[in-house]
Amino acid sequence: MKSFEGRTAMVTGAGANIGKAIALSFAKEGANVIVCDYKENNALQTVREIEEMGGTAMAAVCDVRDREKIFAYVDEAVKRFGKIDILVNNAGGSAGLLNKLTRFIDAERETLDFVIDTNLKGSIHCAQAVLKYMVKERYGKIINMSSIAAVCGLYDRVDYAAAKAAMLGMAKALAMEVGEYNICVNCVSPGAIGRNGEKWEHVTYMGANGRSGEPQDIANAVLFLASQDYITGQNLVVDGGRTLGPGHI
Ligand SMILES: NC(=O)c1ccc[n+]([C@@H]2O[C@H](COP(=O)([O-])OP(=O)(O)OC[C@H]3O[C@@H](n4cnc5c(N)ncnc54)[C@H](O)[C@@H]3O)[C@@H](O)[C@H]2O)c1
Repeated sequence: MKSFEGRTAMVTGAGANIGKAIALSFAKEGANVIVCDYKENNALQTVREIEEMGGTAMAAVCDVRDREKIFAYVDEAVKRFGKIDILVNNAGGSAGLLNKLTRFIDAERETLDFVIDTNLKGSIHCAQAVLKYMVKERYGKIINMSSIAAVCGLYDRVDYAAAKAAMLGMAKALAMEVGEYNICVNCVSPGAIGRNGEKWEHVTYMGANGRSGEPQDIANAVLFLASQDYITGQNLVVDGGRTLGPGHI
């Protein structure tokens, strides 16, 4: 039997790269997948690939910042699949998505709002939308996609590092509140993960493994956490050892 047979997983930002690898991995392991992405073509492409492999998926074309739409899609998904067992809050990114990376002192109000709203508030909306169903089922796994920026900081991304660190705090506090309902809340913090197959040779120190990560490296960590009942409130750093420290004296 596949490890997530009979489970339903909602993955945000599932139309590309890390989110897509997570969605496809859950589908391979038998889960029904709700593919949330604000780019319709991306969402539909992931759904198509899941269906081609014999899986079941539903597109939720919406922005995680749109609280009403997220709640409506979650209700629709529960009508179709009966429950939501797993939520992966993966949609996110830095001001780089707007081509607005800059030193903090120069960051514009709209950019700050975009980064905080997409990463942090989007995750909060999605978690609130699924929780009432998870509480009813007395079962759930929520996994936030944070970043090593939350742990170590990152130039030109103060807003991003702050939002990702807040996602760690959210996971810890929420884990305390929902533990009695058999719901685990954790984070995964990727290092440098190549998009669309690219390798990041230019990053000076990739980590002990000497390579940039691939979306599947992160998907593997997410599926591991989603399979565990006694790990909660934790942050799993998946960076090939990049944040280990200087190494040599
Ligand atoms: N790639 C990395 O090196 C890296 C490192 C650390 C953390 N992360 C985090 O991992 C997650 C995924 O990263 P990625 O590199 O795969 O991103 P990506 O930009 O390649 O893909 C993100 C997907 O999410 C969708 N999306 C973006 N904003 C959305 C929104 N508001 N609502 C719905 N969908 C939205 C996009 O359309 C896209 O399909 C992000 O949260 C990112 O911050 C990535």
